[in-house]
Amino acid sequence: MALLTLSNIHKTFEKGTVNENHVLCGLNLEIEQGDFISVIGGNGAGKSTLMNSIAGVLKIDEGDIILEGQSIKNFSVDVRSKDISRVFQDPRMGTATNLSIEENMAIAYRRGKKRSIFKKSITESERQIFKESLTELGLGLEGRMKTDANFLSGGQRQALTLAMATLVRPKILLLDEHTAALDPKTSDMVMGLTKKVVEEQKLTTLMITHNMEHAIEYGNRLVMLYHGKIVVDVKGEEKRNLTVAQLMDLFHKNSGQVLNDDALVLG
Ligand SMILES: Nc1ncnc2c1ncn2[C@@H]1O[C@H](COP(=O)(O)OP(=O)(O)OP(=O)(O)O)[C@@H](O)[C@H]1O
Ligand SMILES: [Mg+2]
Repeated sequence: MALLTLSNIHKTFEKGTVNENHVLCGLNLEIEQGDFISVIGGNGAGKSTLMNSIAGVLKIDEGDIILEGQSIKNFSVDVRSKDISRVFQDPRMGTATNLSIEENMAIAYRRGKKRSIFKKSITESERQIFKESLTELGLGLEGRMKTDANFLSGGQRQALTLAMATLVRPKILLLDEHTAALDPKTSDMVMGLTKKVVEEQKLTTLMITHNMEHAIEYGNRLVMLYHGKIVVDVKGEEKRNLTVAQLMDLFHKNSGQVLNDDALVLG
């Protein structure tokens, strides 16, 4: 059984108006435990809408989302957040800027636990857990636990957000262009950390990226969205040997369209 099954998902925005926009059009995807999937597609293809649908930020119009055999499509964002973690493009989104690094970590650590726990101050054993997680990042943040997240650079913040998203092992990790706002060197650093944590925790991961090199280099599987459906799905050996030229070819074969404009994929 797949870990997460997306079955015949439809999502239309502004239904019944002149701006009606059918963004997800019968999308099907079976995600296996341990899959690390790069998700690519042009601007407006529906990649973020797909992630928002999985996380519960958006309600789908039709179809089902099944996690470990149970439909979660009617579950709130809060309930789903116990199993599904996210890292966004904007470094300011993942952390509370007026809280310290350790306070941010505490919120992440207590996610999904009993309400009363929120009132408690941070214990020494919790602090130790946070310290270990931060040390793994190799950025020296473990020595700055009382510093406000506000004072961190974009790359440090994305690294912290990644540590928070995986502090309690999620069943699904969703990354929506989480390195796109960073300079190339910092982006590679955060990708390196991503690979490390995904491998160490054997996380099932969906990663949206416009960086074709990253899409090809990372993960065991790559899917391409086009007009609200998945038109390319490569994995294993085929994914390992994939070139951009082959990707264009696969797109052509499966969609009947010629991808003559790199921008469609590269954004
Ligand atoms: N909450 C919303 N309300 C109305 N329209 C929306 C909403 N969210 C997304 N859309 C529209 O749905 C379409 C798909 O958007 P989405 O953000 O999923 O694209 P994307 O593939 O993530 O693109 P990008 O690569 O630019 O991030 C776009 O036309 C967008 O304007
Ligand atoms: Mg997007």
